Amino acid sequence: MILILDLGGNFSRSLGKKIRQSNVYCEIVSYNYSIEEIKNKKPEGIIIAGGEEEGFSDVNKDIFDLGIPVMAIGYGTKLIELAYDGKSTKSLHNKYDFHSVSVDRESLLFNGMDDTLKLWMDEEYVFDTIPQGFKKIAEVEGNIVAVEKEDDKIYGVKFHPEVEDSTDGKFIIDNFLFKVCNCDRNWNMEEFINNSIEEIKRTVGNKKALCALSGGVDSSVSAVLVHRAIGDNLVCVFVDHGLLRKYEKEQVIDTFKKKFNMNLITVDAKDRFLNRLKGVTDPERKRKIIGEEFIRVFEEEKNKLTDIEFLVQGTIYPDIIESGMDGKGVVKSHHNVGGLPENMDFQLIEPVRQLFKDEVREVGRLLGIPEEIVNRQPFPGPGLGVRVLGEVTEEKLEILRDADYIFREEIEKAKLSDKIWQYFAVIPDIKSVGVIDGERTYNYTIILRAVNSIDAMTATWAKIPLDVLDRVSKRITSEVPKVNRVVYDITDKPPATIEWE
Ligand code: XMP
Repeated sequence: MILILDLGGNFSRSLGKKIRQSNVYCEIVSYNYSIEEIKNKKPEGIIIAGGEEEGFSDVNKDIFDLGIPVMAIGYGTKLIELAYDGKSTKSLHNKYDFHSVSVDRESLLFNGMDDTLKLWMDEEYVFDTIPQGFKKIAEVEGNIVAVEKEDDKIYGVKFHPEVEDSTDGKFIIDNFLFKVCNCDRNWNMEEFINNSIEEIKRTVGNKKALCALSGGVDSSVSAVLVHRAIGDNLVCVFVDHGLLRKYEKEQVIDTFKKKFNMNLITVDAKDRFLNRLKGVTDPERKRKIIGEEFIRVFEEEKNKLTDIEFLVQGTIYPDIIESGMDGKGVVKSHHNVGGLPENMDFQLIEPVRQLFKDEVREVGRLLGIPEEIVNRQPFPGPGLGVRVLGEVTEEKLEILRDADYIFREEIEKAKLSDKIWQYFAVIPDIKSVGVIDGERTYNYTIILRAVNSIDAMTATWAKIPLDVLDRVSKRITSEVPKVNRVVYDITDKPPATIEWE
């Protein structure tokens, strides 16, 4: 196991994924983890990664005396400098780019590699004074960019081996894992499934567990894992709030009830939600109502059941990293409870809490969950409630469902579905004039939205081929009643958001 001490930013996450891809388990913890906590984890190696200025000097320098190999990356090398009297200066001019790095192949870190590597650097700092007891192992244009303390296996590198598309970087990470730390390649998803089923069996025993199933990949995979462990003692509740996409409910029933034979309660709460949303146009108010109503429905179902002691939740690793890792270094608070009540008298089971999204998907595939669910695009908790702009009515929902279905179908036919991160239709609260067979019409508009993104924080609009957009527009205006206009949203995030509400 490798422990990543995170100094903030997104670097640690890509590093974590790269390490897991090499079949080594790793955990990302806050930079101010105590020495005791680090020792308890018994890591084979420590990597100090990421780089946001605040709080930096808090990192405990004693980590270099634990007898565990350490690699400090980028801004993290400051820690080596603080502990061993080194110094950095600004020198490189090309920020944020690949550089040609000459390396010392005698170093275990560069073992088996060429003597010049392409590596990404995000800052202009280089070592000015080599930290005491260290030696130079890499340079760029005469500037020192990596140092090593050979006997203690401590490395400081100014470049970023963890960035995407950096093949030389991946090789260096693997050298650290397997040549420096002697890690075993024993992290794989089959093992994970077997271990987690055993663990759930041990934890839950003969008791009962409840799961709110949304059809999203995280809760689906969690539910199937728990079902494998405890069978019918898992009760799943699926709330149909009437704000689902076309055939979504059928897909959930087919998969979980028919295919996996799970104990699934489907609650038809369509009218309740629509009634409460009547006349409401404010987006935040709509979100709140939908969230509250969801909790009410779920609690009513829960109260009909007896002896439930556990609640299954689809929390995944990024949720845990984001919620600040034990309350330290909070990036942003996150409630991955799918709108569930916060103080329910249950113990939680979060079977995929250690996994990154890609790993959850792999587990889902191995468990036999259909590709439509495993690869499902993000879908907001309030569902179509925030894609029907203005008041939510049955009429607008019906139009939206049909238009959205056509859009998705054409994207799939054009084999674009795995190239676009998220794509969907929106129905605005306006009508416009049109003409058909010489007759004036006054009907709804459909907005198509498709974006590419990595983490939903920023997004660019997808450059869908015009012929595909043309087909979608023609099909929607001819197949969906009461639509006479289709528009395509060409705005990035920022300044827009991905959703319209
Ligand atoms: P925005 O619109 O903020 O969306 O750019 C970013 C990502 O989050 C999804 N989204 C939501 N997910 N509940 C959710 O569970 C919500 O209320 C919600 N609003 C937006 C959105 O689909 C996109 O992937």
